[in-house]
Amino acid sequence: MNKENINSKNIFEFIWPEKENLFDTIKSSVSSYLKADLKKSVNFNKSENIFIQGDNIDALKLLQEDYSGKIKLIYIDPPYNTGKDFVYTDKFKSKHKQTSQKDSLAELKKDSSGISQHTNWLNMIYPRLYLSRSLLKDDGVIMISIDNSEKSHLQIICNEIFGEENYIGDFIWINRTTPNDSKIKFATDHEYIVMFAKNIDKIMFKGVEKDFKAYKNPDNDPNGDWCADNPSAASGTESYRFAIVNPYTGQKYFPPKGRYWAFAPRRVKEWTKSGKLVFPKEKNKNFILKKYKKDLRSRYKPISSIISGILTSQGTKEMKALYKNGSPFKYPKPTALLIKLIAQITDNNDIILDYFAGSASTAHAVMRLNYETGSDRKFICIQTAEKTKKASEPYNQGFKDISSIAIDRIKRAIKLYEDKLIDQGVRFYKIE
Ligand SMILES: C[S@@+](CC[C@H](N)C(=O)[O-])C[C@H]1O[C@@H](n2cnc3c(N)ncnc32)[C@H](O)[C@@H]1O
Repeated sequence: MNKENINSKNIFEFIWPEKENLFDTIKSSVSSYLKADLKKSVNFNKSENIFIQGDNIDALKLLQEDYSGKIKLIYIDPPYNTGKDFVYTDKFKSKHKQTSQKDSLAELKKDSSGISQHTNWLNMIYPRLYLSRSLLKDDGVIMISIDNSEKSHLQIICNEIFGEENYIGDFIWINRTTPNDSKIKFATDHEYIVMFAKNIDKIMFKGVEKDFKAYKNPDNDPNGDWCADNPSAASGTESYRFAIVNPYTGQKYFPPKGRYWAFAPRRVKEWTKSGKLVFPKEKNKNFILKKYKKDLRSRYKPISSIISGILTSQGTKEMKALYKNGSPFKYPKPTALLIKLIAQITDNNDIILDYFAGSASTAHAVMRLNYETGSDRKFICIQTAEKTKKASEPYNQGFKDISSIAIDRIKRAIKLYEDKLIDQGVRFYKIE
């Protein structure tokens, strides 16, 4: 970005301090390597599941060689930049150096409007998202958990990196019950899962099974279960406004005002004979057009963009079930939520990558899904050895850093599901 560009009337770009330097970060090669740790691994030689301890920027570069174009789903749950700290850091405020009073005032002003806080977060996330794209398969998808703190910025940089045309949409996840206390009587009780495809023309969700409760067979129709279909349509031509005559009573039926029959005149005879159209023997009763279950083009309908019925508290409960002395990680994502996302996009043998692993909920969800469906999906999880605070709950339980919580949880999940897992292991690597 230069002055000339800024003065040009056609400019449409999202810029922030130091953005242009990020391409150096993206392009710079890594001098580090992945060092295997057999002791921290489980069934190292047989497993294709991977856990990497270290900074994800290095890990994403190191993965390029073996995993470019191989990842079906990247799910990430980065720090939201809420300004609070959980087990991990969630504020990206810069530490200002004290210069002249004028300068520090200017800095202060910047900070109160959140500029430097957003800048730091954007500088952290941008190169990581950029490096994600090449790892995705052609029919791959990235899903990003986020809340209002950075949603608007995330959307713009994803448009830039993945292409606006590849924006799938957002899931709105209702993650908590609406609180009773709010100063302005408005409470946000949802967060987002922003989704981009590598190539929108190549992806397909599984959808959800249609509700077949309405399909029954009270008249023992040899064609099987059916439900009453709407015989009229909102659009059509004049030739679809014909009279249908009841063969028993002679009553004539016309489509409702402004509508058309949903089928051609020749169908009336054919379907009366086959039993798809059923006429009443009494006057002033409507005919029935049957929709057979067997004729449905798909048993699945699109999945709604609203996810409800799974709360954050469910994730905490799951951790408490694994750790009887108390959960060593606050607000992990519930595996039910992750399974819902993973099952929509991935198939057997697909690889799922999570490079902000936290307590490894994604690895846990992949194993639970494998256990429940007999699939053999693989995970790659990356987590830094971010220190836990002294005297905090995880610290007191012996977890001196977050990666040790993640690998411990992975091992517990392997144990939990091992009788039905094809891959009962994980390879532990450390970035050296
Ligand atoms: C919101 S938490 C993820 C929680 C996770 N989804 C769960 O359910 O447990 C974000 C995690 O990313 C980790 N993280 C932050 N920056 C990182 C980096 N540069 N490389 C690897 N992990 C990082 C933090 O330590 C934190 O554990």
